Amino acid sequence: MAVNLTVNGKTHQVDADPETPLLYVLRDNLELNGAKYGCGIGQCGACTVMVDDEAVLSCVTPLLLLEGRRVTTVEGLGTLAKPGPMQQAFIEEQAAQCGYCIPGMMMRAQALLQVDPSVSEAAIRAHLEPNLCRCGTHMRIIKAVMRAGDLMRQNPQGGGAT
Ligand code: FES
Ligand code: FES
Repeated sequence: MAVNLTVNGKTHQVDADPETPLLYVLRDNLELNGAKYGCGIGQCGACTVMVDDEAVLSCVTPLLLLEGRRVTTVEGLGTLAKPGPMQQAFIEEQAAQCGYCIPGMMMRAQALLQVDPSVSEAAIRAHLEPNLCRCGTHMRIIKAVMRAGDLMRQNPQGGGAT
């Protein structure tokens, strides 16, 4: 079955089993390796991406649900030369330890801050609850998300994802 989906602003026709999880399509078909495989059963958040404007667990989202949908991965938030505010903030706060959970954390946080970059720390904590960090860097991650909110408020045009 061929499905048309837009990933980071680019349209792809993906021919795969309709049950294939989006995570595998991103990594195996489109060579976008930002989203990570942690558990494969919707329990860790490492695979989080955005579909339209929602944070979604790509390991449990089958391709068949994605016809015409807009997918954003961490690669769509900016580039090495020009990081987006979420990426910039994580760099500035040195939020990553091993880094495995970080793309998922960034994508879940992006979905929240795109709606309201002024959300409270409590709201950020509650929103990020589905995403686990085995290295225990949660405090730095929360600081980074708050900093990303600051950067987005300073430059409202530069905060969106592709
Ligand atoms: S890999 Fe998707 S939630 Fe763990
Ligand atoms: S930085 Fe290692 S799992 Fe979060």
